[in-house]
Amino acid sequence: MTSFPTRGSYSWAGIQLVHPGYPLAAIRRFRPSKEACSSSLRYCCFASSTPAAKRFRGLSNVVRWDNVSLFIHDQRVFIQAGEFHPWRLPSRELWRDVLQKMHAAGLNTVSSFIFLVLEAHWGLVNPSPGVFDWTGIRDLSVFLDIAQQVGLWVILRPGPYINAETTGGGFPGWVTTVNGTLRTDDLQYEAAWTPYIREVCQIAKSYQVSHGGPVILVQVENELAQNAKTEGYFRRLMDVMRDEGIDVPLTTNDWGMNNYYSKNPAPDIYGFDSYPQGFDCSNPDTWSAVIDEYAFYHQGANPSQPLYIPECELIFPVKLFNQYSNTSGAFDPWGPGAPGYENCREMTGMSFESVFYKSLWAANAKLISYYMVYGGTNWGNLAYPGVYTSYDYGAAISEGRELTPKYTELKLQSFFLRSARDFTNTRIQKVDQLLADKSSASVRRTELVNPKTGAVFSVLRNQDSTSHNVINFTFPNPTSSDQVHGRMSLHGRESKVVSSGHSFGAGSSIVFTTATILFANSIGDRDVLFLHAALGEEVELLLQASGFNNVGKRPSNGPAIITFNQSSSPSGPTYLRLSTSVTGLSQLLLSSTFLLIFSDSTTAATFYNPPMSATGNRFANFHSFGTNDSVLVGGAPLVRNSTLVVSTLHLFGDTVASKATNLVILAPLSVDTVVWNGQPEEVFANSSSGFLSALIPAADTSTFVLPKFDRWKFGNSLPEIESEFNDSRWAVADQGRDDWGSACHHGFCEGVTIWRGHFTSSGEGIPFGINVTVSGGQAFAASLWLNSIFLGTANGNSSNNMNKISEITKGFPFPPNLLEMENVVALVLDNMGREEGNEDEPKSLRGLRYYNLIGGGGRTMTWLVQGMEGGNEKLSDTMRGVLNEGGFFAERQGWHRPDFDHSTWEDRSPNQGLTKPGVGFFTTTFNLSFASGFDTSVFVDMGDIDISSVCGAYRAWLFVNGWQVGKFVSNLGYVLIFNTFKCSWCAN
Ligand code: GAL
Repeated sequence: MTSFPTRGSYSWAGIQLVHPGYPLAAIRRFRPSKEACSSSLRYCCFASSTPAAKRFRGLSNVVRWDNVSLFIHDQRVFIQAGEFHPWRLPSRELWRDVLQKMHAAGLNTVSSFIFLVLEAHWGLVNPSPGVFDWTGIRDLSVFLDIAQQVGLWVILRPGPYINAETTGGGFPGWVTTVNGTLRTDDLQYEAAWTPYIREVCQIAKSYQVSHGGPVILVQVENELAQNAKTEGYFRRLMDVMRDEGIDVPLTTNDWGMNNYYSKNPAPDIYGFDSYPQGFDCSNPDTWSAVIDEYAFYHQGANPSQPLYIPECELIFPVKLFNQYSNTSGAFDPWGPGAPGYENCREMTGMSFESVFYKSLWAANAKLISYYMVYGGTNWGNLAYPGVYTSYDYGAAISEGRELTPKYTELKLQSFFLRSARDFTNTRIQKVDQLLADKSSASVRRTELVNPKTGAVFSVLRNQDSTSHNVINFTFPNPTSSDQVHGRMSLHGRESKVVSSGHSFGAGSSIVFTTATILFANSIGDRDVLFLHAALGEEVELLLQASGFNNVGKRPSNGPAIITFNQSSSPSGPTYLRLSTSVTGLSQLLLSSTFLLIFSDSTTAATFYNPPMSATGNRFANFHSFGTNDSVLVGGAPLVRNSTLVVSTLHLFGDTVASKATNLVILAPLSVDTVVWNGQPEEVFANSSSGFLSALIPAADTSTFVLPKFDRWKFGNSLPEIESEFNDSRWAVADQGRDDWGSACHHGFCEGVTIWRGHFTSSGEGIPFGINVTVSGGQAFAASLWLNSIFLGTANGNSSNNMNKISEITKGFPFPPNLLEMENVVALVLDNMGREEGNEDEPKSLRGLRYYNLIGGGGRTMTWLVQGMEGGNEKLSDTMRGVLNEGGFFAERQGWHRPDFDHSTWEDRSPNQGLTKPGVGFFTTTFNLSFASGFDTSVFVDMGDIDISSVCGAYRAWLFVNGWQVGKFVSNLGYVLIFNTFKCSWCAN
């Protein structure tokens, strides 16, 4: 707070490049294309024969449910959702990118779909009472349109309270001034939230699946404790939502297994979030045990509804006494000592996903949402005081939109769920233990059976879910074939699914396999089964393939080692034992109607399975709704989507620009041309298997030169400490009111506030110091000056979520000989945001709560306060919105915006710093002339700046094109790399 960095290097890091594709062409076989499920919207794919879902009052019957799963348009669905807050990525251009990446994770499938969970942010769209702004980065309609185009169903969670580590849990600042208890049935509070909920519902209404849109569920509130004060509020919310035309099921998110709102009053579908992994990301290898109680709890809580887990993920914070404990790591707190997101990503990495996510499958949960799949950035003043700028969350897609290994595991799991459509309708048949061959360890087996088809899926994991031990064991042979031996291994923290009796494609069936299924479906006119296993692991397959009984002609094209036995009956099953000792793809058991592919899991993980877009319907990219067809594409880091136009396959995706990419494609046999990102490619065919390959050359990246930050200009941003500063138009903090010292009660709810207190030194009792009580939220700071001379700083604290200090009382002696007849104390207060919590916790009054002049004989001061230009009522920057900035002089003058002319300013770089404690504004401009067609994710790295030894603690805010993209607190954390946003339309 007291000074800006005096030295530092600015550099750029984290560039991702998308290769646009290069023109080459080739022709190969031709076969007339089968009509896709596309000319009109047909809910043609795998409809349940007996949708037993129930129907309740006022609901559309487009979304229904039974005690296992949801049905959308009569199709049973496994919901595997991922949470993404568009408001944490303030660039509409990039919403599509993240949504496509979620979609490409393969979660939009025959039986499993990625569903997008979207929390709306009341505080961003309703800056002052009665004022709503849904434009630009707040445009819910645009977001929902993109979700629909990409092919994602949406679960909408509009609050009013969302928690989400955002300031006040999503409440607008002005709501903190409501004279009534928040999150209860208080009428003042009701008057505040009702217009917002009506607005959200008005927008969302036409986007419901019942009206042709993607919204399938709407959540009421979030984690609301049930008691006599909240029940009326909950009921009223449901009523208003229904009144406003919400006719898809209403849901809830109970904070843990508390039975809050599971019975009466209750929404249509009850859900609870769960925090099994109370952990500290600083010890990524430390795990808590998997919770095995979900299924049992579900039977008591809401047995006629599906088991719904609206939030589960990556890291499970432990909330004790309504505070996140210091063992939590979901969101990284201010430091020092905060473990950082890479630790969190490691702790909740692929093994965690394997064991914990599949434990939800074992509980027979068919509605699961992962919090967060993309976390994003707490730009501006979005954060609540417990988190800093990055909200990366250790998520599968990083803050810079890069795909992490967690994404890969998520994709593999989704591909299994997409293939195993029998898995959408299972019951738990039994839970038992399989003993290890040569140790006392055991495997926990949960057997899930589909009562309609008889398919059985066994979810296996180490009984001790935290164990690293390898277990070798024998899976009991469920078949009549004496060739099956069932020998398997679990490599420590790993979970596997063994499938039997599972049919796929046009009539093929996996009688039994210990391999993992990547893909089991039709591609064109062939049934394709793609299995994988860890390198060197031996797996078994007993297969009944449709129209395929001459497996004697198996080619062994690839590194797989197979032992092969055909049934003595020509129509009987075929038995294979498969393993590989080197990585690579093997194409086996090939005919014109069937293909078996086997690879090590690493090779399998390079594949994508984009649905082939249909044309002419609103669900063109929703697999099994708008389209039934898909292709397999390996080799590229990302394949976003595919479309078949007659015999030409159009693929869109990303390659690593600096190296050539070998695409491997399995498409319908009719495909003769491949177009990658708009450019025809030369394709090579493997005539036996039908695989196509195409080489995408490396791109020229020499144009990617990062600019230097030089030609700095400087302006003093704290003229308010000077006695002669004119504050006559500032708000008077009238001490006749109880709330006189709350900045928000004077219209300045967000960001830094500046206070000026006047007093005279005439007469009796000359003060020799001042005591102030200041509240800014944990990790805050407030600095004071008397007649322009620095008095000192009152520091709050939050060190790795411990020793949290949100408000502090501190005395500041006046240096001798400073007092004049008219005196001014200037106070700069950094507001870290409002708390989350129940009832009035989010009110968190920020400001100068109390003062007294020491030795002043009770003499009073006249205080005036200033914050963001125009305050909440008359924002000056409606484009970036109410949460972007605060009340620094520089912000009030608009110095941070790109259209401000700084040309006549003093030359000075941040490396030269300030000459005395204050606030300085340093600015420079630069050009990013990157070639088009590349995705560049650009960060500003403030590198090795650490001037604390020179000037003590300091704070720095980083603005790029007017957007506040980073806040650095030198003594409470060292996160210096800030995300910037690509946004061509919103630069000015
Ligand atoms: C949940 C809450 C979310 C988020 C999460 C932790 O309890 O519903 O909004 O705060 O915890 O990241």
